[in-house]
Amino acid sequence: MHEEIFEARLQHVRHKDVYRSLPRPYGEGSCEIDFASNDYLGFASQHVSVPRAVPLGASGSRLLTGNSKSVESFEEEVAEFFESPKALAFCSGYSLGVGVLAALARNDDIIILDQAIHACWVDGAKLSSATTYYFRHNDLSHLRTRLTRLRQRRPRSLVYVVVESIYSMGGDLAPLVEMSRLCAQFDALLIVDEAHGVGVLGRGGKGGVVHANLEKQVFARVVTFGKGLGGAGAVWLSSQLSCAQVVNFCHSFIYTTAVSPTAVAVMQTGLRYLKDSAMKVLALQQKVEKFRCQLSAPPSLSPILSLRMDSFADLVRVYSCLKASKINVSLIRSPTVRRGYERLRIVFHSSNSAAEVQKLVEEIKNESYQWI
Ligand SMILES: Cc1ncc(COP(=O)(O)O)c(C=O)c1O
Repeated sequence: MHEEIFEARLQHVRHKDVYRSLPRPYGEGSCEIDFASNDYLGFASQHVSVPRAVPLGASGSRLLTGNSKSVESFEEEVAEFFESPKALAFCSGYSLGVGVLAALARNDDIIILDQAIHACWVDGAKLSSATTYYFRHNDLSHLRTRLTRLRQRRPRSLVYVVVESIYSMGGDLAPLVEMSRLCAQFDALLIVDEAHGVGVLGRGGKGGVVHANLEKQVFARVVTFGKGLGGAGAVWLSSQLSCAQVVNFCHSFIYTTAVSPTAVAVMQTGLRYLKDSAMKVLALQQKVEKFRCQLSAPPSLSPILSLRMDSFADLVRVYSCLKASKINVSLIRSPTVRRGYERLRIVFHSSNSAAEVQKLVEEIKNESYQWI
């Protein structure tokens, strides 16, 4: 009987034309031009040999047998690099996002999310007993309205505002300076997800918060290691006190096997690559400006561009033509984005050449599209 039910559920998404299946294995040996991966600096495709032998596993939860000198010294290294009082390591950005809001926001507290925020925060807010509100994407006046009303009703509640420094799908930047000012005015705690900001923005690729000089103003930052840093894993960067909340109350930190020493070595390698890559980061930042100009896209520091067309069918057609020309971009469909907001997502990397971008320009120049 479960088979019928499962089949009916899949049938439902097939009807809505949003059925998903795994694509063919990506990368190795492919001669496609990469305008799709999050490997902004080319770290993910580096073949590494681990510099020293490390134990395979952590052997238990971080609070039991899973703590280790290696994870603690990695956390110190990462906190120092990002100029944060403390860092706590997680197995992934998703497990961090899904866990910390429930740990920090309870009962009378309030969570305010940007409407375009990554799914891990939406899921995390659902696990919290606090009330969640959304504000229109990057809309400062809507955020101000929300904060004004909520503060009138709940003067003493903890209020958390969660945004991304670079939005993963649209590629636009959050106005962090103004947001941080608003949060200070209403005594709200700003959390910045830097998944796509690290390796891309700021001095040495330290992210959007460093770029805006807000290290001391934001409540917390999230650095993920699976995008610009090439590997996998994540860290929560915040005060000692907020880290103690996580250690005491965050289920996805407590009730799971700690990040393994091998995973720590992967994160540490990504971090060390970044430390050695100031010139590469600069080259990426310069290329982003130049490539955006080549494509007549709005000027921005973001390497992520999104293109919309009149119909989904047009997007699929252009996507297939690009594929046939060995140009790999991503077709983003609902439910990842809202229906009607489907798009082609184009990502620049430090390795992309002007000739590759020109090839892309040639492919799309006669199409009718708008940049988002
Ligand atoms: C903005 C954002 N936050 C969090 C995550 C989750 O990070 P991870 O891939 O490490 O689970 C992602 C990944 O898709 C992301 O784009």
